[in-house]
Formats: sequence, structure tokens, C-alpha cells
Amino acid sequence: MSIAVYPGSFDPITCGHLDIIKRSSRMFDEVIVAVLNNSSKRPLFSAVERVRLIEKSIAGLPNCRAMYFDGLLVDFVKQQGASVVIKGLRAISDFEYEFQMALLNKKLNPDIETLFMVTNANYSYISSSIVKEIADLGGNFADLLPSEIYEEVKQKIEKGR
Ligand code: COA
Repeated sequence: MSIAVYPGSFDPITCGHLDIIKRSSRMFDEVIVAVLNNSSKRPLFSAVERVRLIEKSIAGLPNCRAMYFDGLLVDFVKQQGASVVIKGLRAISDFEYEFQMALLNKKLNPDIETLFMVTNANYSYISSSIVKEIADLGGNFADLLPSEIYEEVKQKIEKGR
């Protein structure tokens, strides 16, 4: 059975992430969307909230599930019996950082492969921070998020203003 892990902060999940998840779900028996900590970020949504937002967004994808892990990506991948990490590349500017991460993860566990998937051009300009900024400033961000989570994200950001 082929299991892939799609890791990220997902603060919150966007249409760009969902596009990668859908395409990955056609390539692997199972895709685990893993909410992990990026030590350089302070997330707006708690880990529990981020997992729930992902679960709502992937409800129609039976071979995908969401989990949180507070540790190294390679340890999570091994624990889940997976061997592939999927990362989305939005622009050439993503490449240098992602390349470094892939090499580091390979050094930490040589059995794990990183697979880069090119983001759909329609979503290449999206990031979770951009969505939060537009929402915070009262702009329309409905097209940038899975429709199932739009209201919850909107309310959370409005409350925090
Ligand atoms: N569509 C839209 N946006 C996308 C995207 C896509 N396909 N792919 C990435 N993005 C966005 C993300 O939302 C994120 O936006 P933000 O900066 O506004 O939050 C940005 O692009 C960067 O994404 P990414 O490089 O995947 O960073 P991340 O913070 O989401 O995830 C972790 C990084 C959590 C996977 C990484 O820190 C990690 O593995 N942590 C675990 C600890 C560990 O193992 N550390 C050592 C690694 S060597």
C-alpha cells in the first residue's frame, strides 16, 4: 500500500493546498495531510482547529485524512508507514527553501523521498498569510479557500480584529 504525507502549517488550508491533495489522492492509496509546526511561524489557528478545517475540506476524498504531529516530519512519516513526502511548488522562489528541506529530510532518513508537485497556475499566488491578510482587511477571499471552511475562517478573523 502506497502512503504519502503532505505536510504543512495549513494556517488555514487554502484552495492551493486542496488542489495538491486532490491530485495526490489519485496517485497514492492513502494521503495523510499532516499539520506540523514550523518553528518560524506563530499560527492563528490552533492545531486542533487546523486539523478540523482540513477534515471539513477533504470530506469528499475517502483516501485522505488529516493529523497533527508535534515533532520531526521524518519521524511522522516513518511512524505512519509512509515513504513519500509531497510538497507543492508555487514559484521558483519556493524552490531554494524546499530543496534545502528535501535534502535535510533525506539526510535525516534516506528511505524517504520528497515529491514536488507544481501548483495549479490558478492558485500559484495564494498563501495562507495572504488569505489571512485579505480577510483581516475586509477583502473578499471566498475564492481562495475551500467553500466548506469559509464561514469558520471569516468568523475567527473577524473576532480577532
Ligand atoms: N498552494 C497555496 N499555498 C501554498 C501551497 C500551495 N500548493 N504550498 C505552500 N503554500 C503556502 C503555505 O500556505 C505557506 O504559506 P504561509 O507562509 O503564508 O504560511 C507557504 O506557502 C510556505 O509553505 P511551506 O513551505 O510548505 O511551509 P509550511 O510552514 O506550510 O510547512 C513544515 C513547513 C511544517 C512542513 C516544516 O516546517 C516541517 O516539516 N516542520 C516539522 C519539523 C521538521 O521536521 N523540521 C525540519 C525540517 S528539515
